[in-house]
Amino acid sequence: MKSSRLLFILPPFLFATILLAANMNSTENPSDDPTSNTHPTESDENFDKMMAVLTHQRCINCHPSDNIPKQGEDSHPHYFGMARGAGNMGFEAINCNACHQSENNDYSGVPGAPEWSLAPESMKWEGLSRTEIAESMLDRARNGGRSPHEVLERLTEHALVLWAWAPGIGASGKPREAPPVPVDEYIEAVKAWFEAGAIIPAE
Ligand code: HEC
Ligand code: HEC
Repeated sequence: MKSSRLLFILPPFLFATILLAANMNSTENPSDDPTSNTHPTESDENFDKMMAVLTHQRCINCHPSDNIPKQGEDSHPHYFGMARGAGNMGFEAINCNACHQSENNDYSGVPGAPEWSLAPESMKWEGLSRTEIAESMLDRARNGGRSPHEVLERLTEHALVLWAWAPGIGASGKPREAPPVPVDEYIEAVKAWFEAGAIIPAE
């Protein structure tokens, strides 16, 4: 008799305690405050900046999915029927480096940077979504056996990557377009994205 009366009294009391606890929790736990919990958003923002560069034609033109390097802002197939040859350096008869030097030639319009050659077939990015490019880039089976740190270094230090911000003048006399994110901002975003665990957001 006594205990059943207690049970009757207890639930409203418990309910009030839970409410109080929940209320305290929401003011004291910073993770409930949307303005202080910026980590996922920050990582996504860094991903957005990085991918705005990786999907740009300056990169994609050399990471094709059909063995043919592309040219220009409209990514048209490379003139002179250039295609992948042995070792990604062009047909045996005509090597990429027969025309492409280690620097841009703004008189002839031939772009140049050290190690100019076509990205291997496993590193084809043309036509892939942002998520697919990021997955491929981190996949040792497709990225040339690189560790995440080595990919980070390639992305932030390699001459062929940095060339995109000084791409020279095209054969038509028009300057080539640089990727839409300034290089310093891009490098910062890439480093921060890798540091935060290289999380690929769902698209
Ligand atoms: C002139 C052609 C060329 C251009 C332009 C170019 N790449 Fe590459 N890229 C290559 C080649 C070749 C390799 C493979 C090097 C190797 O493994 O020896 C490569 C490999 C890579 C890799 C390592 C492989 C992977 O999947 O992780 C990354 C990352 C990369 N490129 C990013 C870029 C980015 C970003 C841009 C544009 C800003 C770019 N590349 C522009 C030719 C190019
Ligand atoms: C016969 C000379 C010649 C050879 C050989 C050659 N290219 Fe080119 N390439 C050019 C010229 C010229 C341009 C500039 C075209 C323009 O600006 O309209 C160019 C542009 C490019 C571009 C465009 C860059 C951009 O983002 O617009 C890429 C990529 C490229 N070449 C890759 C290669 C690769 C890879 C090879 C070897 C498989 C190669 N080329 C062989 C002459 C050559």
